[in-house]
Amino acid sequence: MKLWGGRFTKEENQLVHNFNESLSFDQKFYRQDIKGSMAHVTMLAKQGIVTEEDKNAILQGLEGILKDLENGTLVFTEEHEDIHSFVEATLIGRIGEAGKRLHTGRSRNDQVALDMKLYCRDEIDETQELIKTLLEEILKIMEENLDTYMPGFTHLQKAQPVTLAHHMGAYFEMFYRDYLRLKDTWERMNYCPLGSGALAGTTYPLDREYTAELLGFYGPTLNSMDSVSDRDYIIELLGGLSTIAMHLSRFAEEIIIWNSNEYRFVELDDAYSTGSSIMPQKKNPDIAELVRGKTGRVYGALVSILTTMKGIPLAYDKDMQEDKELTFDAIDTVKGCLSLFAGMLSTISFNREVMADSAKKGFTNATDAADYLVNRGVPFRDAHGIVGHLVLYCIERDMALDDMSLEEFQSVSPVFEKDIYEAISMKTCVEKRVTTGAPGQEAMRKVIRVCGERLKEARRP
Ligand code: ARG
Repeated sequence: MKLWGGRFTKEENQLVHNFNESLSFDQKFYRQDIKGSMAHVTMLAKQGIVTEEDKNAILQGLEGILKDLENGTLVFTEEHEDIHSFVEATLIGRIGEAGKRLHTGRSRNDQVALDMKLYCRDEIDETQELIKTLLEEILKIMEENLDTYMPGFTHLQKAQPVTLAHHMGAYFEMFYRDYLRLKDTWERMNYCPLGSGALAGTTYPLDREYTAELLGFYGPTLNSMDSVSDRDYIIELLGGLSTIAMHLSRFAEEIIIWNSNEYRFVELDDAYSTGSSIMPQKKNPDIAELVRGKTGRVYGALVSILTTMKGIPLAYDKDMQEDKELTFDAIDTVKGCLSLFAGMLSTISFNREVMADSAKKGFTNATDAADYLVNRGVPFRDAHGIVGHLVLYCIERDMALDDMSLEEFQSVSPVFEKDIYEAISMKTCVEKRVTTGAPGQEAMRKVIRVCGERLKEARRP
């Protein structure tokens, strides 16, 4: 019999049960469900709504259920509709009458709203820890590669020289913003829906402030209808996770390109690559590709919940049960991607010479050659034209600007002198760029210091 069976005369059809049930997936937050019930009954006793004796029996019963679920002696059985019914029925089965008082002043609507929030809150904490680990890996690469020159790209065409530290610094910024975005979501959602009842509060003298405090919330939510039907925080969370997945996919794509035979900027550790079943020479970047690919299912979860929530009238509707599986999957997926990616980065090796050589061969110092002329009085438009000619000259001879003799330089413009070589060396090109955010060592060192401080401060207020 269902816990709501009183009003019903027929047994539920099996297909209906299967379609309606959520225990197969909401068992994932049994810990949060039990924790919420413990807080609820503690509050009920404080308010004199249940006796101390019943409270103690309920708390003990719940602790036993938690313990037995953890050690596997209690298993979920499919006749129960959801985790809430399962825990309540098990409790009543174990402690009898007192167990029947647990649900006083509570509905599954505010209960599920609470459980999901507690779950998401815990998962945000874990995801933030994983982002921190990734940021630490990135920062380490930055610190070690202040003078590892490489081409910076626009349109995937070599543009101007940068350093590996600078390139990695871009990802530090992205993932740090992701970290802050999750923090914002956590802060905004941290209000307790418990005590909102089915939709209109309850007639019992609940102390919602107290329950909220017991569960570590800033306070209770302020509208009972919104409390049971708000899923914004899940949308926000999935938005944040989608952005992480998007950033990871960009990073993964670069690793894949850099790992290709054509680039050879990086060498992936054997542990993070796989072979081919037919082509013996292959070492494929499967992990990076999977990380890139999994972005699809994370975006899918976001679009799915947005669509489910569209047009639902107040207050709770069963549509909302659809929030769970996709959210769980998106969280697990992003957490998996973050930890795999950090592991891959910690074992990657960079082919520094290949990178520097690539920067040199790609005319990334052409802008600096033009600036050289400008600093000697040539108008920029003319300088651009002169260097354009030089580039063409080099392309025809398969050489870099730096490989030209002074005579060759001077045959195109007499303004060039011996110091042109110094002026267009990778080192000069990079080191002259010292404004905040630029790749020059001086600027990068300051940024790295700030990044280190951000990591140190990255803890909850
Ligand atoms: N399994 C339900 C869900 O996930 C719990 C709430 C059920 N409430 C209800 N009125 N049927 O949304």
